[in-house]
Amino acid sequence: MTKKIGVFVAWPYANGPLHLGHIAGAYLTADIFARYHRLAGNDVLMVSGSDSHGTPVTVTADEEGKTPRQVFEESHALFLEAWQKLGISFDLFTHTDTENHWAIAQEFFKRLLAKGYIYRATEKQLYCETDARFLPDRYISGECPHCHFPRARGDQCDHCGNVLDATQLIEPRCKLAKPNDPPHRLTVRETEHFYLDLPQFEKQLLAWLETKTDWKSNVTAFVRNWLQNGLRGRAITRDLDWGIPIPLPGYAGKCIYVWFEAVIGYYSASVEWAKYRGTPDRWKEWWTKSDEVRGYYFVGKDNIPFHTIIWPAMLLGYDDALPLPYDVPANEFLNLEGRKFSKSEHWAVWINDYLQAYDPDPLRYLLSVNMPEFADTDFTWREFIRRNNDELIANWGNLANRVLTFTYKNFDGCVPTPGELTAADQALIAKSEAAFATVGSALERVRFKEAIHVAVELAREANVYLQTTEPWKTFKTDRARAATSLYVALRVIDNLKTLFYPFLPFSSSALHAQLGYDGDLLGAVKIETVAEAARRHTVAVYEPGQHAHRWQPSPLAPGQRLREPHALFKKLDEKIAEEEKAKLGKPS
Ligand code: MF3
Ligand code: ZN
Repeated sequence: MTKKIGVFVAWPYANGPLHLGHIAGAYLTADIFARYHRLAGNDVLMVSGSDSHGTPVTVTADEEGKTPRQVFEESHALFLEAWQKLGISFDLFTHTDTENHWAIAQEFFKRLLAKGYIYRATEKQLYCETDARFLPDRYISGECPHCHFPRARGDQCDHCGNVLDATQLIEPRCKLAKPNDPPHRLTVRETEHFYLDLPQFEKQLLAWLETKTDWKSNVTAFVRNWLQNGLRGRAITRDLDWGIPIPLPGYAGKCIYVWFEAVIGYYSASVEWAKYRGTPDRWKEWWTKSDEVRGYYFVGKDNIPFHTIIWPAMLLGYDDALPLPYDVPANEFLNLEGRKFSKSEHWAVWINDYLQAYDPDPLRYLLSVNMPEFADTDFTWREFIRRNNDELIANWGNLANRVLTFTYKNFDGCVPTPGELTAADQALIAKSEAAFATVGSALERVRFKEAIHVAVELAREANVYLQTTEPWKTFKTDRARAATSLYVALRVIDNLKTLFYPFLPFSSSALHAQLGYDGDLLGAVKIETVAEAARRHTVAVYEPGQHAHRWQPSPLAPGQRLREPHALFKKLDEKIAEEEKAKLGKPS
């Protein structure tokens, strides 16, 4: 039965480009997963968008002397460019400043309020007397009360990870103060806000989480910890004017908190996607409770509570016929050359810069084999070069290229006709065919490293096979035998092409053409060009349900005409590692 797979991906703050840590944390895993499920013949809806509101955007705007809208629009364009070049195949990548999203977010707010899940209360907040305004979250910096890191933010300490209330900070400072200004005078004032009454959902949430026995242990541990401390009401409005207004009279100058409205984006973007398609009801296919409907939320680890507790509570309150998350396969963090990514310290590799200089697949490869799935991992340029040259090329690229080049030259550019297959020939083909089940099952269980490892090992075995059978040598003495070995190798390469496709879509697609196939590897119906799609903030160009089931063994037939082979990957000079590393820590 065809499944409806919702691939819901964290909405990036639109306050500048994304770095490799973001890509490894959520976007790449989501894309691998979506591509696999499309190949497997399931109906995928992959949506996200720019998180255009919130203090990260307004703080950046102040710093750069721009309007929040400028900052968000520039960032949105950078995101779309990155998705296209890196092949992150969203069906819709929208943003939270659309009319559609505003209306749906306000509707959520009103309904939860009407049903008694939202209450009003007055809280104490830091107020800047100099600027005559309340200071939300990231407008405040100060010493962390837990670890004493001197530059903790009003909402969270980046050093120890604790979630904070700004009034807890030791010696809080107003970030609107210019570097040479005397510190602004802060006082604590009362302000009225709306709260999501999380305790009302505690029982239901616990019962639901009990059923999630196969979630990743890092996610489950985090959620348990949160629940054990007991749920409390959470403020879902802020004193800000950049954002979605509270849909009630008398609250000018207050907005719906970015975290409350951004998560609604998964739902509103599904609705928006269906409208674009001219099938306004189709979003419901992914938002109906059924065994065949599964929503996966790909987010970084700092986003876990919002997707495992707050968003589910909002869904329960809004309409309990809506499906709760099926899984939240959050990754841990990627570090860079042994340190945390940091924008302010210029310790980052920005994805748009990377894609300006290098190809997408080598990065997709490295981040897949070194994914921070269960623990933090480290990106180093040295490892990037080594994995590209000594693994991706030496193990996979050369395998495909050698076999194709030799066959193309010596067999009239066609797939050779095999003689009788030996036991070893049959064993290798059988193994490569069995890999569809093992890789597929690992991907369905959101175990990405395990999945790519099976394909990498299979390529290794194919290399061993060629070292033993040596068709380039037997060709001179026993042409029929050489034809058979090459045929076997081509079949295995054709299988590897599909097995690697979710991870390495660009090279697999190139290989697909070289093997002589016409059309898209996915067998998909292209419904619009990428440029057309981009104008509508859409990246992917496939219609769910319109593509073939391609997660299956190679149908490669003897005699199939090949296309002229060319190398799938470029070798990278080792000195790049030092050059790139030297750029870190300096403003670009
Ligand atoms: N913009 C926030 C972040 O990047 C939230 C992303 S997930 C959302 O951390 F669903 F809430 F949007
Ligand atoms: Zn101030």
